[in-house]
Amino acid sequence: AVERTLSIIKPDATKRNLTGKINAKFEDAGLRIVAQKRIHLTKAQAGVFYAVHAERPFYDELCEFMASEPVVVQVLEGEGAIAKNREVMGATNPADAAPGTIRAEFAESVGENSVHGSDAPETAAVEIAYFFSGLEMVG
Ligand code: CMP
Repeated sequence: AVERTLSIIKPDATKRNLTGKINAKFEDAGLRIVAQKRIHLTKAQAGVFYAVHAERPFYDELCEFMASEPVVVQVLEGEGAIAKNREVMGATNPADAAPGTIRAEFAESVGENSVHGSDAPETAAVEIAYFFSGLEMVG
């Protein structure tokens, strides 16, 4: 089925001018960028987005990092977009990421891992709604 997923190009990647190279990976995989904006999150906004991780030891560091520099938030659309995006991103820890994936090529560490992607249809819907209104997505 055609799906939409929420993607974030994280501060470590925007800082190094990797937005275009990362977007090329998405587009080459058949994912269409149907919405996109560059924003600078506050730590509180990052905290709400990652609320599911609030009890994890890395939560505070994660929120600080996500608010440290601008991010690019985007909606990717395509056949099986959620799984396809996760495949293109590679494993969370770049040390485990398959060759050619975004995290293998660009990520600096498990925390500063260049991209985020929704993990399931339910979370994709919630995450997309956090950043975009329906009018901002053009398929
Ligand atoms: P992401 O897919 O955005 O979802 C949660 C994020 O938490 C994850 O990517 C990593 O950036 C971060 N994360 C996961 N595990 C760790 C860890 N052990 N130490 C620091 N950050 C982590």
